[in-house]
Amino acid sequence: MTVSIKMPFWGPLHGRSRSVSPWRERILGGGMGRGWVSIPPPPPPTRHGLQRMRSAAEPGPWQAPYNWGGRARLGGRAGGHPAGGAVSGAWPGRLSSGPRPGRGQLPATSTMATASVGQICARKLLPVTWLLCGPRRYASSDFKAADLQLEMTQAPHQKPDLSKPLVFGKIFTDHMLMVEWKEEKGWGQPRIQPFQNLMLHPACSGLHYSMQIFEGMKAFRGSDQQVRLFRPWLNIDRLLRSALRLCLPSFDKAELLECIRRLVEVDKDWVPGSAGTSLYVRPVFIGNEPTLGVSCPTQALLYVILCPVGSYFPGGIMNPVSLLADPTFIRAWVGGVGDYKLGGNYAPTVFVQQQAKRKGCEQVLWLYGPDHQLTEVGTMNIFVYWTHEDGVLELVTPPLDGVILPGVVRQSLLDLAQSWGEFRVVERKITMKEVLRALEEGRVREIFGSGTACQVCPVHQILYEGKHLHIPTMENGPELILRFQEELKAIQYGTGAHEWMFPV
Ligand SMILES: Cc1ncc(COP(=O)(O)O)c(C=O)c1O
Repeated sequence: MTVSIKMPFWGPLHGRSRSVSPWRERILGGGMGRGWVSIPPPPPPTRHGLQRMRSAAEPGPWQAPYNWGGRARLGGRAGGHPAGGAVSGAWPGRLSSGPRPGRGQLPATSTMATASVGQICARKLLPVTWLLCGPRRYASSDFKAADLQLEMTQAPHQKPDLSKPLVFGKIFTDHMLMVEWKEEKGWGQPRIQPFQNLMLHPACSGLHYSMQIFEGMKAFRGSDQQVRLFRPWLNIDRLLRSALRLCLPSFDKAELLECIRRLVEVDKDWVPGSAGTSLYVRPVFIGNEPTLGVSCPTQALLYVILCPVGSYFPGGIMNPVSLLADPTFIRAWVGGVGDYKLGGNYAPTVFVQQQAKRKGCEQVLWLYGPDHQLTEVGTMNIFVYWTHEDGVLELVTPPLDGVILPGVVRQSLLDLAQSWGEFRVVERKITMKEVLRALEEGRVREIFGSGTACQVCPVHQILYEGKHLHIPTMENGPELILRFQEELKAIQYGTGAHEWMFPV
C-alpha cells in the first residue's frame, strides 16, 4: 500500500553536514505541500553555483552531436524557469529566449540546434527519420525537476544481505522515477513513486516495434559516505541521442539529471558501501502508442529504476573471458543503429551468446566487414594494448564510425590514458589479420573490454576460424588493466570532488 505524504520533500536531509551549493541548500530547505509536495524555486545561481554547473557540463573530448551548453533539440522552451536558474539556465551557451515556435516552424533562436541537426545528418549520411517528426515536438513542454512529486512507499523492502553476492539486476530499490508524455499535453509532472509494475496498453509500441531505449550508469558510495554518480552527463547525452533516433520526445537533460539525483537521494540507503559495489541506475524510455501501425508515438513513458549491484569480480579476483569470434553474426552495421542504446539491439544477441556458450566461450567478439574488424565484446567496447606494426606502443580502440556504442567507460579509459601521455592512444580500425600477426610476433600485451558493469574486463582467449588463440593479457600483469581499475576506483570511491563525479 502506498500513500502520498505531507512533508518537506527534502526535510529529512536537514542538518546533514556536507557541502552543498547555495541553490541546493535552498532546495533542501523545502516547502510544505498538501499531499503531493512541490519544491520551491531556487534563487538565481551564485558565482559558485555557476562554476559548479560549468564543471558539471564537463566539456571533454567526448562529443555527442548534442552538447550540454545548448538545447539539444529543436524548439526547446528558452528562457529561465524555476529550476533552470540553477540547473539548465546556468549552463553556458544556452539558447536565448524567444517565442515558442508553432508546429512546423523552425525556431529563429535554434541556430545551435540546427547546427546539431546538420552534424547528425552529415555524420550518418542518412535521411534522418526523426527530422520528419520534428515539428510535432514543439508541442511538448519540458518536465521540470522543480515540479517533482514524491510518493513514499509505505512498505519498504528489506535491503539485501551484503555478506552474500548481489546478482546483477535482480534486486530493486523502493522507489522509481516516472514521467509521462502525451503529444497533445507534452510532458507531465515527474514523480518519484513506489517501485511498481507498469500498466501498458496491449498495443504499446514499445512492445510491438522495439520503440524502446535505455541507459545504464552507476552511483558509488565514497569512503566519506557521500553518494556520487559517475559521469551521468554522458549517459543522459546518449539517452537523448537514442530518443531522437527513435522519434521519442525530447527532454531537458539537466532536468532529467536533477530528477535522477533526487531519486537516488530518496533511495540512498540502498547504495551499498563495500568494495566493488554500487547502485546501478537504469533509465528506460518507451513509446507507449496504444495503436498498431509503425509511426512516431503520441504517448511515451520515461522511467528510472535502481538496483544495488555487487562487484563484477567477487573477492577482487579478476577472471579473464574467452570470446567466440564468428563473422557470420553481425551486431551492427554502418547506417544502422548499433551506436544508439536501443533495446532492439540487444535481443538478437542472446542467441549468439548461447552459441558462444555452446562452443565453450564466455562472450561474443563482434566482427564486422570482409576484413573482420573487431568492434565490441558482448556488451562492452574493446581495447588492444600492443606494439603496433610501426614499433610504437599504443592503446587502440575502434573509432565511433556508426557501429560502436560510444561507451562512457571507453571514453574514460581514453581520457585517462591520454592524460598519462606514456604511450600512443588512438581510435582506429583493428582487424583480425592484424591481431593474428601481432600475436605471432609477440606484440600483443593486453586485450580487454570496457563497460559500466565490469569497468575493465580482461580477454585471454579468442576462438576464431576453428582455432583457439591465446591472448597473453594475464601474463602481462595485466599491467594496464590493473592501472585503469585502480584509477577508476580512486575516482569513483574517492572523497575528492573529481570533475567526473556528480554528488547526490
Ligand atoms: C553494445 C555495448 N557496447 C559498449 C557498452 C559499454 O558502454 P558503457 O561504458 O557506457 O557502459 C555497452 C554497455 O551498455 C554496450 O551495451
